[in-house]
Amino acid sequence: MSDKKNLKGKVTVVGAGFYGSTTALRLAEYNLFETVVLTDIVEGKPEGLALDMNQSRSIEGFETKVVGATTTAEGGGYEATANSDVVVITAGLPRKPGMSRMDLIGVNAGIVRGVAENIAKHSPEAVIIVVSNPLDEMTALAQLATGFKKNKVMGQAGMLDTARFTNFVAEKLGVSVGSVKTLTLGSHGDTMVPVPSRCTVDGKALSTLLSEAEIAELVDRTRNGGAEVVALLKTGSAYYAPSAAAARMAKAVIEDSGEVMPVCAWVDGEYGIEGVYLGVEATIGKSGIIKVVEGSLAPSEVEALKAAAEAVRAKQADVKDL
Ligand code: LAC
Repeated sequence: MSDKKNLKGKVTVVGAGFYGSTTALRLAEYNLFETVVLTDIVEGKPEGLALDMNQSRSIEGFETKVVGATTTAEGGGYEATANSDVVVITAGLPRKPGMSRMDLIGVNAGIVRGVAENIAKHSPEAVIIVVSNPLDEMTALAQLATGFKKNKVMGQAGMLDTARFTNFVAEKLGVSVGSVKTLTLGSHGDTMVPVPSRCTVDGKALSTLLSEAEIAELVDRTRNGGAEVVALLKTGSAYYAPSAAAARMAKAVIEDSGEVMPVCAWVDGEYGIEGVYLGVEATIGKSGIIKVVEGSLAPSEVEALKAAAEAVRAKQADVKDL
């Protein structure tokens, strides 16, 4: 029987679209948090979804209480989020077929800025996990808008892109996903850097199992992983794998787990890259990013990471004016 007394902490998920609501449900089903708050500006939607999720508790066996709260752009309703330990920001529009994530920058910047300001007012100690797109830029913007220390604000992308890469490798070789290790760094966009040199299957280097051309094909599919789903769905973007990744990051924070995950983190000196939010491996805990972990990469991969840093740096500089 599950027990309420082991539950701890409060997590808020901003945005009750597919991404947000699936993240909230995953977090609740961990049976780890005391409270999961789900918010949205669509009146009644978060309350209705929370009610529905709570009614699944006796079946799925979790005690976490889900609270829905309608919020307004002016800050109404944010009291329900007060003193959250972790906040996942999913607010913003998803892509439509043919769009790049960057096409969303104008409209999503306004939304993310407003949300981040309201969150900072009510949860000054929270760790923020941004998932809104374009990811690297929205993470930088959330840090600016909250004024939080850079290590308290991170973005979700690397875990998702890595999980996609892993899935493609497992399918290609007909092996279990558990036997495959991959890694994806860089931006959550055109300058994504899948890292074949760090990919193994049952400990064997991927390069011993697939040809260069085959690996290049999987790398390419990973880079376009989000767009492939968008093209099929036609109305909206992926949310099962993305929400799994975001929820695991929030779990690592509340458990102060010290796990190393590929995330969008503030990089200042690692790999010779200065002052930019970028997809790297980092240790995650209660304070957010504990440390960026500089892993061993092939020289060409370091070059690709540097190129990604320069591409996102230019865009991140623009967000302060959006
Ligand atoms: C994706 C979106 C969520 O990659 O960025 O599916």
